[in-house]
Amino acid sequence: MPDVERLDERDYDAWYDVYAAAHHRDYDCPWLSIEKRVNLVDDEYGTKIALLRRDGERIVAGGVAVLPLRDNTTLAYVDAWVHPDDRRRGHGSAVLAALCDVARDAGRTRLFAEAVWGVDDETSAGREFVLARGFTADLVDAIRQLDSPSDPPEAPAAEGYTLHTWRGECPDQWVEEYADLRQRMNSEAPSGDVGLEEEYWDADRVRLDEAATARSRREIQVVVARHDAGRLVGHTQLLFPEDGVEVYQWDTLVLPEHRGHGLGLALKVAAMRASVDLLEGRRRVTTYNAGSNAPMIAVNERLGFRQVAWCGEHVRDV
Ligand SMILES: CC(C)(COP(=O)(O)OP(=O)(O)OC[C@H]1O[C@@H](n2cnc3c(N)ncnc32)[C@H](O)[C@@H]1OP(=O)(O)O)[C@@H](O)C(=O)NCCC(=O)NCCS
Repeated sequence: MPDVERLDERDYDAWYDVYAAAHHRDYDCPWLSIEKRVNLVDDEYGTKIALLRRDGERIVAGGVAVLPLRDNTTLAYVDAWVHPDDRRRGHGSAVLAALCDVARDAGRTRLFAEAVWGVDDETSAGREFVLARGFTADLVDAIRQLDSPSDPPEAPAAEGYTLHTWRGECPDQWVEEYADLRQRMNSEAPSGDVGLEEEYWDADRVRLDEAATARSRREIQVVVARHDAGRLVGHTQLLFPEDGVEVYQWDTLVLPEHRGHGLGLALKVAAMRASVDLLEGRRRVTTYNAGSNAPMIAVNERLGFRQVAWCGEHVRDV
């Protein structure tokens, strides 16, 4: 791995600063330092490898490879970034080549990378870069934002369904069913030709994820829909980083046999109403959906979200 090093704890803050500087566009905000740090911790579901590149003493570029261990084991998710002052000097290519080596050494055969560009942008460095380095475009997600405060419409749950809310930990009696909802996200939401497998989720992973969310100092508001006949049939998550500014509308899923009853809108409205205290003072809510996901887009537009950017998913052989 010439010229590219594994991240050492002593360099974490400088490495993070380059990451944050590289994500300066208003529709592509960096994660907070604590969130990024927690996300680099290995667990039984994934190995994470963080790299950096220097110019002299100064760190100018970085990257991360995530190697899933319980699903999608042919893939490596890769991300590379370069400080805006140091671009077009080959640093991004060097980091990407090193990430590719990491993936090959781990027996992976494909790389998966995202690149973001604004709806008004003619071009984007990230997109041009991945295409120049041999990736092809797969699915395109639309990034939408809703200015806060907003005024969600009335949207009670349809007859035969009840909504339940929690923050932090899923109640024990639902944790298996909740894991099943988390697992089905990749197969039940539109996905591209790369054919992402379902992520492996079980109760242990739900608990691990909740603990990581707490360590990231994020608050999470969950709403689930329960069918009167018994099981959980849908959920949505609103994520509140510690910065007090941003909010992320994370997964929303309604199982196919329960679609067409307005549950998607009801879940999202309920999440916003349940988190009025957490929304106080926040600037906006950001969400991603596949450009082809017409039902979810209709729900988001009903709530007042407007599109600000695209996020392209790209794939390449190792
Ligand atoms: C994308 C990014 C990592 C590129 O880093 P970089 O060090 O400037 O990239 P390189 O110098 O190795 O560029 C390699 C090739 O990519 C293409 N490229 C990179 N930036 C480009 C731009 N702004 N416009 C057009 N082509 C570009 C070119 O073909 C370039 O080769 P060239 O300079 O010989 O023409 C950097 O712009 C960045 O950090 N962007 C924000 C994060 C991001 O979008 N990451 C992409 C996800 S992996």
